[in-house]
Amino acid sequence: MYLGKPPRASFAQLRSFEAVARYGGITRAAQALHLTQPTVSTQLRELRESLGIELLVPAGRGVQLTDAGRALLVTVTRMFETWRGFEEDMADMQGLLSGSLRIAGVTTTEYFLAQWLKPFLQAYPGIQVDLVIDNRDAVIRRLEREQDDIAIMMMPPGHLPLDSLLVMDNPLCLIGPAQHPWASRKSTPLGKLASVDLLMREVGSGTRQATLEFLAEHQLTPRIRMTLGSNEAIKHAVAAGLGLAVVSRHALAKDASSEGLAVLAVSGMPIQRHWRAVWRKDRRLPRVATVFMQFLTNQLGK
Ligand code: PGA
Repeated sequence: MYLGKPPRASFAQLRSFEAVARYGGITRAAQALHLTQPTVSTQLRELRESLGIELLVPAGRGVQLTDAGRALLVTVTRMFETWRGFEEDMADMQGLLSGSLRIAGVTTTEYFLAQWLKPFLQAYPGIQVDLVIDNRDAVIRRLEREQDDIAIMMMPPGHLPLDSLLVMDNPLCLIGPAQHPWASRKSTPLGKLASVDLLMREVGSGTRQATLEFLAEHQLTPRIRMTLGSNEAIKHAVAAGLGLAVVSRHALAKDASSEGLAVLAVSGMPIQRHWRAVWRKDRRLPRVATVFMQFLTNQLGK
């Protein structure tokens, strides 16, 4: 039982503060909350006065958090999580599984996440899904900020307290244009890769990192001809004959030739990796996320 003094801040003030911190300015926060700018400013002022410490300072056209502001943001984020948990518990109690599921997936997951989600959404019509797709570095930043319930990725970072569930294989294949001479060969020695133009994903991509690690393990220095920001851009450039690339098998059509591509057989490839669902073990995993993962295990275990 809570026996301390009641908090010196109201829920509405904290909601405004959280939105201003998230959007970096009062105008956008007010828009997101459907409040007027003066209302948000007043709530922030009242919050500052009752806590007796500066939480935000002007920075450029927006605002920046002070140390106290950052500490408050951590607290508020936890409070809102707790509140969300309470609302979900209420929903669970009523036998209605409702709420939202927040997922972040690295770029290749866009090729299969819809299939994973479809039966889950059909089974739980009350649930709304917020899905963000970005590269590995961006997904890691989201995990650091606790912005999602679950992230789907290949290489979870080592510096965060995470739990994970291995979901399925993720072979990383070498691709070339459909007419490439290696396409008709049973196997090409890996060393040949050092003398071809390679197209790579941008810095921050897990596919890029896994490829570079693999090449380094085999003492190969790649000749990176071009850097591209998406799997689709890579595939089009490879099909156009600009070079070879490594992509997840899941980024390709079943029949790669239908996209003007061929999966090239090179010794030691594909690079064997896996897809994992990961989540922060230092915070409560919402029930909806647990249910989604049970669903995933059943669906993919079949
Ligand atoms: P990415 O994803 O290349 O889109 O960053 C790979 C991963 O990290 O799983």
